[in-house]
Amino acid sequence: MKVKLAKTAGFCFGVKRAVDRVYEEVEKGGSPIYTFGPIIHNEEVVEDLERKGVSVIHTEEELKQLNKGTVIIRSHGVSKHIYQVIEKQGLKMIDVTCPFVLKIHRIVERESALGKHIVIIGNDKHPEVEGIKGWSSGKTTVIESFQEAESFQVPKGEELCVVSQTTFNNNKFQDLVEILSKKGYDILVVNTICNATEERQAEARQIAREVDAMVVIGGRHSSNTQKLYEICKKECNDTYYIQTLNDLDVQKLLSVGCVGITAGASTPKKIIEEVQKEWQK
Ligand code: F3S
Repeated sequence: MKVKLAKTAGFCFGVKRAVDRVYEEVEKGGSPIYTFGPIIHNEEVVEDLERKGVSVIHTEEELKQLNKGTVIIRSHGVSKHIYQVIEKQGLKMIDVTCPFVLKIHRIVERESALGKHIVIIGNDKHPEVEGIKGWSSGKTTVIESFQEAESFQVPKGEELCVVSQTTFNNNKFQDLVEILSKKGYDILVVNTICNATEERQAEARQIAREVDAMVVIGGRHSSNTQKLYEICKKECNDTYYIQTLNDLDVQKLLSVGCVGITAGASTPKKIIEEVQKEWQK
């Protein structure tokens, strides 16, 4: 039995930076600590932080009820409006928005101020996309499917600026942009997919091609883990999506010749190692 573990499996730079910063703040003690949304899409980490006194707030309404403490903005980023609410409430803010996401905010803010219609290639319901939308001062459209790209229309003369959710599939982004480009609009395309995502996806695809079964580890709500699963499933029919070792039917996989393992950007090293060790017993 051979195991191929992806080198890119686990925390990306932005997530590591965000999680480390929250633990640093916990160490310091003092005022109550809140994260605006779970710091990462990983229940284990969020529960551990909860035990250490870090509460998760989910809505602007909850934020408006706070009158003291520190609010941590996670790597996904938030809309401009949320910064204003935090300031108005007189709360201390720690912003660990990933620099790659901040770059998108700056592009969207600038280009929408120039009158461009912002097109975000991504999932409309994802918090990162919600945050990006909140930096546009004009028209904004989110496109995720081929159908949405095909039916997208704007009045003649309207200029477009296309950006992407950082974790979007690179090939699909190119295909959607091609559909939009053929419509003859004046269009500025900025591929804002993060390298960490591309590298992770390319490595996962390669490993999935070479193995008999593939295990993808990550939180249920982690969009980049879901994408990894889709990519691997295409290459290797025997692909499993698990959150922790408990979800894995190891016995079933022990009969397989070679297993590949990859993990989403919010999967702690500890969980990856636990899964890997199953084959080293
Ligand atoms: Fe940042 Fe890329 Fe990770 S955008 S949070 S380094 S996936």
